[in-house]
Amino acid sequence: MTTLFEELQRVRTYDYTEEDVRGFEKLHEEIRALKQQRNAVIVAHNYYRPEILKVADFVGDSLELALMASKVKDADVICFCGVHFMAETAKIVNPSRTVLLPNLAAGCQLADSAPAEDLRARIEELRALHPDLAVVSYVNTTAAVKALSDIICTSANAAKVVQSLPNQTILFVPDRNLARHVAEQVPEKTIIPWEGFCYVHQQITPQEVQRIRAADPEIEVLVHPECRGDVAKLADAVLSTSGMVKYAKERPAKRFLVVTECGLTDRLAMEVPDKTFLKGCKLCTFMKVTTLEDVRDSLQLMRYEIEVPEDIRVPAERALQRMFDVVG
Ligand code: 13P
Ligand code: SF4
Repeated sequence: MTTLFEELQRVRTYDYTEEDVRGFEKLHEEIRALKQQRNAVIVAHNYYRPEILKVADFVGDSLELALMASKVKDADVICFCGVHFMAETAKIVNPSRTVLLPNLAAGCQLADSAPAEDLRARIEELRALHPDLAVVSYVNTTAAVKALSDIICTSANAAKVVQSLPNQTILFVPDRNLARHVAEQVPEKTIIPWEGFCYVHQQITPQEVQRIRAADPEIEVLVHPECRGDVAKLADAVLSTSGMVKYAKERPAKRFLVVTECGLTDRLAMEVPDKTFLKGCKLCTFMKVTTLEDVRDSLQLMRYEIEVPEDIRVPAERALQRMFDVVG
């Protein structure tokens, strides 16, 4: 049987020592005991630190985490190892559970690029010009923005969501790269992008990808749709983070270049040890700010509880439910 130390040695983002791993094992024990005591479930995003993924009950992308959170019935507490908008989404879809975000510094720069007041003004302006305008918001938005939206989408279903709408003109919020990707897949609609972007994905250049491809022509290139268009053009597949995990497991190829936040390759290296995953060093500080100690303290002290006022939660839930209806 593989030990935790052996498994974590496959990870490239961190250089764990045996002493680090002994510390993780001790914290895992404490967290498991607290989980029982609090009747909690721990869910984690694919980009989280590997030692947190190893203690989570469920690991996934934004769509999977939102769906998972909506289905939690037996647990009283959802300890959400993701960023703020993800924990908020969990609270929106499952308001009777206590949702904890272990570290309040886990925000999202992309979500912050679309303040609700600015969106409200933009919708008014555009509706005057396009009376059939629909507002489609990426899940990487605040609850207040979701409440102003007709429907939500994630990186796993954005084109499908837009296609499902009868409306011809779509305001797509807040990621301009994902908006462009959707516009390419749904050319019959007019997509008006909000001019936001993710600082992690925006840094990745086509030159980085081309250099690796030139050195290794057989490598398969997986790109997240938050990347720039000139990077997405070079992809063998444009996928959400869990879409990449599934693709890498199913494809016969042995080597992949994983063009997204670098934490995903750590999950892949642990779960698919017979394949090689290359990556650029693009790290989301928001996804990495939470430590295993934070997770322990969160369950011990029941902090930090995420609340969403009902006047925002109800319309936000409606927009999320529409997405769930589209994806089944
Ligand atoms: P996924 O839904 O693909 O996991 O993406 C979430 C995210 O924040 C990417 O930066
Ligand atoms: Fe937000 Fe970008 Fe970090 Fe994803 S990678 S959580 S979009 S800042």
